[in-house]
Amino acid sequence: MTVECEGGAKLREVAMQNNLGIPFGCENGICSTCLIQINTGMENITERTEQEEATLSIRSAAPEQRLACQCKINGDVEFEF
Ligand code: FES
Repeated sequence: MTVECEGGAKLREVAMQNNLGIPFGCENGICSTCLIQINTGMENITERTEQEEATLSIRSAAPEQRLACQCKINGDVEFEF
C-alpha cells in the first residue's frame, strides 16, 4: 500500500488515518508494540528520541527497526511490520 502525507507528518497519525494496521499501544515509545522495520528511506525519518532509543536498546533492536509512534517522516519511506 502506498500513501502520501505532508512532510514532517507523524507516522502514527498517517498510519491511523490510512488504516495501515500498525498496532499501537502506549503511543509514547515505551511498549514497542508499534515496532516497524524500515526497508528504505531511513534518512527521511527523524532521529530516534531518547525514549525510543532506550526502548529499542532494551529490545536489542536492529538499526533499521523503529517505533512508529515516535517517527516523523520527511520523504519516501518503505517499511513493514
Ligand atoms: S505504541 Fe508503545 S512504543 Fe509505540
